[in-house]
Amino acid sequence: MQNPAKVRGIFSSIAARYDLANHLLSGGLDFLWRARAVRMVDKWHPHSVLDLATGSGDLALAMQKAMTQAHIIGADFCLPMLQIAARKKLSPLVVADGTNLPFADNSFDAVTVAFGLRNMESWPGALREISRVLRPGGHLLLLDFSMPRPPLDAAYRLYLHRILPRFAGLLTGHRAGYEYLGESIEAFPSGKAMLDLLGSADFSAPHAHPLAAGIVSIYTAEKPSIP
Ligand SMILES: C[S@@+](CC[C@H](N)C(=O)[O-])C[C@H]1O[C@@H](n2cnc3c(N)ncnc32)[C@H](O)[C@@H]1O
Repeated sequence: MQNPAKVRGIFSSIAARYDLANHLLSGGLDFLWRARAVRMVDKWHPHSVLDLATGSGDLALAMQKAMTQAHIIGADFCLPMLQIAARKKLSPLVVADGTNLPFADNSFDAVTVAFGLRNMESWPGALREISRVLRPGGHLLLLDFSMPRPPLDAAYRLYLHRILPRFAGLLTGHRAGYEYLGESIEAFPSGKAMLDLLGSADFSAPHAHPLAAGIVSIYTAEKPSIP
């Protein structure tokens, strides 16, 4: 659970270099993670998709390219991030807070959130709001960092807290933003804990798909057809 003003401030200050930092820090793996997410969403054949916390828009753009029949809306509460997405011609874009969305109940066939839920003030609150805007039987896909299992977790912690902030600080000029990244990854539910959180938010059929030795996971779940 995060402070929204702090989170918006961090993303406002790193927006201009966000994409570059992402690609370099993941060694380009972020393209593969998104491509995997797009393939999963595509299998649901959605007509309407909300990409929440769309940021600079890369997941929404990848979906738009692969799923030409689908109507994709990008939403984020940080204007400088959306301005980067707008420069890439992503449209429509909506300034919106994930915990209080300006959409009617049952509006979307699918909601995607890549590296976004972790940054929200209330994870259960955001999941409730996502469920509200999803139609019954609609699908949720979360893509986010997770903690690998022992013994890899120790090396990953060293990278997260010692190496990443220094390197990303040099790249973006905002070391504090990447100190926050490591802290937020540690605090975020991972694996079974995320499946439990999805279950407690009344999503059905929660599944975890760990990628890259577990440093990233895709979680999928459904809004039950009959409440
Ligand atoms: C790490 S970026 C992810 C951007 C993009 N989805 C991606 O995969 O590159 C996290 C994004 O979440 C947005 N965000 C954080 N909290 C939010 C909230 N409560 N409502 C909407 N967007 C939020 C931030 O503004 C930021 O653009």
